[in-house]
Amino acid sequence: MAFSKIHLLFPLFLSILLISSTVFCDTDEEDDLLKGINAYRASLNLTTLTKNENAECLADELADEFKNQPCTNSTGANTVPGTEPQFANYPNLLAKCHLNVSVTRDGAVMPACVPNLVPSIVLTNFTQSQYSDNLNETKYTGIGIGSDGDWIVVVLTTSTAEGNYATATTSAASSVSGIIYHLLFLVMIALYFL
Ligand SMILES: *[C@@H]1O[C@H](CO)[C@@H](O)[C@H](O)[C@H]1NC(C)=O
Ligand SMILES: *[C@@H]1O[C@H](CO)[C@@H](O)[C@H](O)[C@H]1NC(C)=O
Ligand SMILES: *[C@@H]1O[C@H](CO)[C@@H](O)[C@H](O)[C@H]1NC(C)=O
Ligand SMILES: *[C@@H]1O[C@H](CO)[C@@H](O)[C@H](O)[C@H]1NC(C)=O
Ligand SMILES: *[C@@H]1O[C@H](CO)[C@@H](O)[C@H](O)[C@H]1NC(C)=O
Repeated sequence: MAFSKIHLLFPLFLSILLISSTVFCDTDEEDDLLKGINAYRASLNLTTLTKNENAECLADELADEFKNQPCTNSTGANTVPGTEPQFANYPNLLAKCHLNVSVTRDGAVMPACVPNLVPSIVLTNFTQSQYSDNLNETKYTGIGIGSDGDWIVVVLTTSTAEGNYATATTSAASSVSGIIYHLLFLVMIALYFL
């Protein structure tokens, strides 16, 4: 009996590990940049940007696409608001992050490359470049940051349907299965204490 209880505990332990690694996986560079950007916005009396999970997912995926390009390759780095980076698999990246192009249209995607992602340089890269144009905007309310190698990508979201990066309805099936999965765990925990 004690043996089977250990078997029940193991998946629970694994899920705690998984949850903590997905929640706390932000790198210092990303946290520093988020704080820096919000301090910059506060100095301009603009609203604090709140984290948007889907935008963060897309930023991570894009950083992953950029990572093998040298910093000198500015292709895609001069993103004009509203235009999307030129990756052939961009639709796949959106789908991976439960996004539909209709909810990302008004957002802004801003990639930057800084050797070793030195925090102070990364911040000025956004606040003292053409990107400050976006950071100065009142319409942006959310943010997602991803980094990989020397690349860091900031995605800004709005509170409107055209830019809120809301989860696409097509992923409803997967979130239902996610709920069932969690219910199963609750049942297993309950069984353990019986
Ligand atoms: C921000 O608001 C404060 C207090 O209302 C004001 O003194 C300051 O000039 C404002 N700063 C900017 C950049 O608008
Ligand atoms: C520069 O970026 C473009 C677009 O992402 C890519 O097609 C090209 O291969 C890159 N060049 C180098 C040298 O990495
Ligand atoms: C995106 O959403 C719109 C409206 O909800 C829908 O018509 C369209 O088919 C969706 N596109 C994809 C690729 O799912
Ligand atoms: C970011 O900084 C690097 C130098 O570290 C510079 O070459 C690059 O153009 C900057 N990018 C932007 C968007 O300002
Ligand atoms: C954003 O606002 C700052 C502070 O007012 C200003 O120095 C900067 O030029 C603005 N950026 C753009 C692109 O207008």
